[in-house]
Formats: sequence, C-alpha cells, structure tokens
Amino acid sequence: MRCIVANKVKVLFVCLGNICRSPTAHGVFRKLVIDQGLTDRIEIDSAGTGAWHIGKAPDSRAQATARNRGIDMSDLRARQVDSGDFMVYDYVLAMDESNLSNLQAMVLDKSNTQPKLLMDYALARSEREVPDPYYGGDEGFEHVFDMVEDACFGLLEDIRANHL
Ligand code: 4NP
Repeated sequence: MRCIVANKVKVLFVCLGNICRSPTAHGVFRKLVIDQGLTDRIEIDSAGTGAWHIGKAPDSRAQATARNRGIDMSDLRARQVDSGDFMVYDYVLAMDESNLSNLQAMVLDKSNTQPKLLMDYALARSEREVPDPYYGGDEGFEHVFDMVEDACFGLLEDIRANHL
C-alpha cells in the first residue's frame, strides 16, 4: 500500500513583541492540535513585528494565565517575523490592525500568503482585534486568553474544512 504523507498546514501567529498575545495563541492552538491528534498535519509558530524581545520567553503574566488554564508555553522564544515567512506559512495571523498593516507592507509577492486578523476566525466573539495587554493588569491577559481561545477553535474548523 502506498503511504502518502500530506504536507503540513503551517500557521504563524503575529503580534508586536511576540511575548504576550502571539505566544498565547501559539500555546492555545498547539494544545488544541495535540489534543485532536493533528501534530503530524499542522505546524505552528509565532513571531513579533518588533525586535525588542528576540530570544525571550513569553511574559511571566501571559505564562501564568496560560498555566492556570492548563497550557505550558515556557519553551517558546520570541523571534521577529520576516518576509520569507509569507512563502512558508499558509496562515499568517495578526492580533490587531497595526500588526496587520505592518505585515501587509512586508509581503513581497502577490502569490505569497496574505496576512489576516486572527479574530476573523472567532466563533463566539465579535471583536476584531486582540488588545495589547503589556502595559495593563492581569485581567488584560485573561481577556487575551479568552479571545484567542475562541478564535483558535474557529481556525481549526477552517483548517479542517479547507486543508485536511
Ligand atoms: P505583544 O505585547 O505584542 O502581545 O507581545 C507587547 C509586548 C511588548 C511590548 C509591546 C507589546 N513592548 O513595547 O515592549
């Protein structure tokens, strides 16, 4: 019997610093993909449009919020998005409109993946942007987690419908 190994669907989550919102989305979506037995079909990464936090672990408040919800993202390290990412990833998903316009300015070729907002995939929520929690309190991180979790459920539905 011939065994065909399908190409992986590749997902990149992007925010400004890659230490709060996009690693939260990375950790939430990774857990979902593991729980649904799809690790051999879906590849996940996250990145920031800014360079300040390259090499750093996620913000301790983002990690604590995720840990309380059963998600360990301590292994993640920040990196900066680059124009090659649009040739590699099938989904490049921005957290807010500012991230989105920065990403749109980086796309070199019309045939490359066009970035979208993560919240385009939300199932239950109507907000378009995941707000930056960096300068706020712990409740901002809880809010980010809730929003991102809802959109990750919808994103997996979209991947199942269109790629798997
Ligand atoms: P993120 O949050 O984009 O969700 O990772 C931020 C992290 C750091 C900064 C801004 C936003 N900063 O200005 O350093």
